[in-house]
Amino acid sequence: MARQEIDLKAAINAISDVVQNRPRPLRENDQIYMKTGDMVLQSELIADWADGKRLAFIGDGDAISICIAYLKKSEILDRGPIEITVFDFDERIVNAVTRFAEAESIPNLHSQLYNCIDPFPSVDKFDFFYTNPPWGASNNGNSVKVFTQRGIEAVGATGEGVIVIADNHDLSWPQQVLAETQRYALGCNFYVQRMSSQLHLYHLDDNPDLKSCNLYIKSLPGNTSISESRSIVDEKLLESFYGKGLQPKIQYVRERKRVDYGKAHDDEYEYELRSEPND
Ligand SMILES: C[S@@+](CC[C@H](N)C(=O)[O-])C[C@H]1O[C@@H](n2cnc3c(N)ncnc32)[C@H](O)[C@@H]1O
Repeated sequence: MARQEIDLKAAINAISDVVQNRPRPLRENDQIYMKTGDMVLQSELIADWADGKRLAFIGDGDAISICIAYLKKSEILDRGPIEITVFDFDERIVNAVTRFAEAESIPNLHSQLYNCIDPFPSVDKFDFFYTNPPWGASNNGNSVKVFTQRGIEAVGATGEGVIVIADNHDLSWPQQVLAETQRYALGCNFYVQRMSSQLHLYHLDDNPDLKSCNLYIKSLPGNTSISESRSIVDEKLLESFYGKGLQPKIQYVRERKRVDYGKAHDDEYEYELRSEPND
């Protein structure tokens, strides 16, 4: 089927609604958000790829899940997954998904609080998974492997996945991590179907030019390589998980109060009043 021409202005405005609803990123947990223009392109690509499928997101601070569901609901896209669930350890993100789904009446968009160090919950098997994990610059991609493992478990070892990771052809570590990730996928009987290179930019203050790719993987026919989902106990996999010396110490990020992310917060400003004319 030919790709649909999309109404770009309507799509950007819809993504703008999603961005307004996004909790502010916690850099120490590797929440670094994708730039808005790239979110439009990414949502279209992923909606097309996962058309008619049940799609699991292993972490999704970027809110690509919401974009895809909302663009389809608004009929800006005519394709997309039939069901989307976001698994994330940040309650602010989980609640932002649920609130958006309720406010916009999107019944097939769900979210669940989950830490990927823990066994994957026993839920109905998904068809596809998507993850934009911590990029593993300081642990040779081990954090990518943990998120990918949970994605593979989400699809019961039979299906497809997109892994969004750093892609720079001059720096050493992104090339090492790409190779490690592909090796890991092969070890799980998933092969690399294709790779769309250097697609996305991020609000990344210390390296604003670092781009990421979409790495598409697919299970080999008849793959049964999956065993029962277990906690990650191998300390080596958890070392420098979120960057050099940053181990995963947090079980969940809890939401303290419900904040309207689209409005200035009371503690950000104060009013200095004009003097009365006769003062
Ligand atoms: C690791 S960040 C990667 C950067 C990505 N561009 C983003 O900010 O969404 C992706 C998502 O994973 C979530 N995350 C981080 N650590 C997690 C963990 N241990 N278990 C589950 N989700 C986690 C974050 O809350 C975030 O939403």
